[in-house]
Amino acid sequence: MTLTTLRTLDEIRSTCRGVDGQLGFVPTMGAIHAGHQSLVRAARQECDVVAASIFVNPLQFGDDEDLDAYPRREAEDAVLLAAAGADLLLLIDKDEMYPPDFATTITQSETLVTTLEGECRPGHFEGVLTVVAKLFGLVGPCRAFFGRKDYQQTVVVRRMVADLNLPVHVEVCPTVREPDGLAMSSRNAYLGDDQRAAALSLVGALRAAEQAFRAGERSAPAIEAAMETILRAGTDEPEYACLVDPLDMSRRTAARAGDVAVVAARVGPARLIDNHSLGDTIPGLPARP
Ligand code: PAF
Repeated sequence: MTLTTLRTLDEIRSTCRGVDGQLGFVPTMGAIHAGHQSLVRAARQECDVVAASIFVNPLQFGDDEDLDAYPRREAEDAVLLAAAGADLLLLIDKDEMYPPDFATTITQSETLVTTLEGECRPGHFEGVLTVVAKLFGLVGPCRAFFGRKDYQQTVVVRRMVADLNLPVHVEVCPTVREPDGLAMSSRNAYLGDDQRAAALSLVGALRAAEQAFRAGERSAPAIEAAMETILRAGTDEPEYACLVDPLDMSRRTAARAGDVAVVAARVGPARLIDNHSLGDTIPGLPARP
């Protein structure tokens, strides 16, 4: 399978719109890892043609965030995307994506974009939604594939697609983890050895939530306290450890199976997030009988 690289918006539009059959799309910011590859493989299984984009979207980074440091390695990324089965690689120039007269952004009126990640990263989801809407408009995919690791992102993207009647089906694929449980993330590249070990506190906190739930705990504050203890002990700066409704991200008071435990923390130079649905399997704990 050969990978064709497309760079201009005209080239992307005409090639993607001319595809014969179902087009699957995997939007990324590059620094491709096994998590992204799993999305490409899922698209490969379900679609006739698979396009992946790499665009480090400035609109979704705050002024004090890691836009400049974000790993950029297009040549290696192309090899990994081709190996997973991508046919088209879209590499869009920042100035073509956002010309000087660019004036339209997408937001959501609900708390969805102002809670949790939206609270810690003001404007982040407006940037994500704007670029995802633009990419959907350019590529016109039947199906688009997102990783479950960015849980809140999948919720806001699905809401946008439903609210704007966009003709694309959003598929959410499982988080891919290292053997010790650390969720794959492009930002793991920032971690030194000690920080890599400390980053396990995120999955440790999720395990603590699952353990408490399995032991019969149903108080959300108690489950959150168990998560926070682990996160505080291991990371430099815990940001949140909450139990939320899987559909609207609102905080829970009583825990139910399927509620989502979400965590965010800074570990050295990296800001990491992870999540887990109560009742699901999680590495490090035996599967539920
Ligand atoms: O998840 C990401 O990598 C980004 O938020 C996305 C969806 C590619 C939009 O820039």
